[in-house]
Amino acid sequence: MRRVITYGTYDVLHYGHVNLLKRAKNLGDYLIVGLSSDEFNAIKNKKSYYTYEQRKMILEACRYVDLVIPENNWEQKVEDIQKYQADMFVMGDDWRGKFDYLKGYCDVIYLPRTPEVSSTKTKNYLKYVGDEYVQKAI
Ligand code: CTP
Repeated sequence: MRRVITYGTYDVLHYGHVNLLKRAKNLGDYLIVGLSSDEFNAIKNKKSYYTYEQRKMILEACRYVDLVIPENNWEQKVEDIQKYQADMFVMGDDWRGKFDYLKGYCDVIYLPRTPEVSSTKTKNYLKYVGDEYVQKAI
C-alpha cells in the first residue's frame, strides 16, 4: 500500500483543496492530511474561520482523505513520514522547493495549484459582500 502525506490549513474548504486532495490520493492508496492546529496557525500569522476540530470534521467527510493528524510545528514532518510510513509527500506548487529536504525520506511532489481560488480570497469576498449588505441596510 502506497501512503501519501500532505499538510495545510484547509479553512473554508474549496474546490482548489478538493482538487489537491483528489490528485494526492490518486498518487497512492491512503491519504494522510497533517492539518494545521489553531496554535500553529497563530505562529504562521494565519487565523482560520473554522476551528481545528471543525476543519478536521469537514476533511474527514471528504472521500479522498483517510486520516487527519494535527500539524503543530514546522519540524514534525520527518517524524510523521516515519511514523505513518509515508511513501510520498505532496504539496501544492506554491511550496515548490521548500520541502526538498524530505527527499531522503520519501518522494516529494509539488502539484500545480488550482488557479483563482483560495481561502483568503473567499473570506475577503464574503467580507466585501457582507459590508455592502450592511451599508445598504443603513
Ligand atoms: N491549494 C491548491 N490550489 C488552491 C489553493 C490551495 O492546490 N487554489 C493547495 C495548497 O497548495 C496546499 C493545500 O491546498 O497544498 C492547502 O492549502 P491552504 O494553504 O490551506 O489553502 P489556501 O486556499 O491557499 O489558503 P490561504 O488563502 O489561507 O493561504
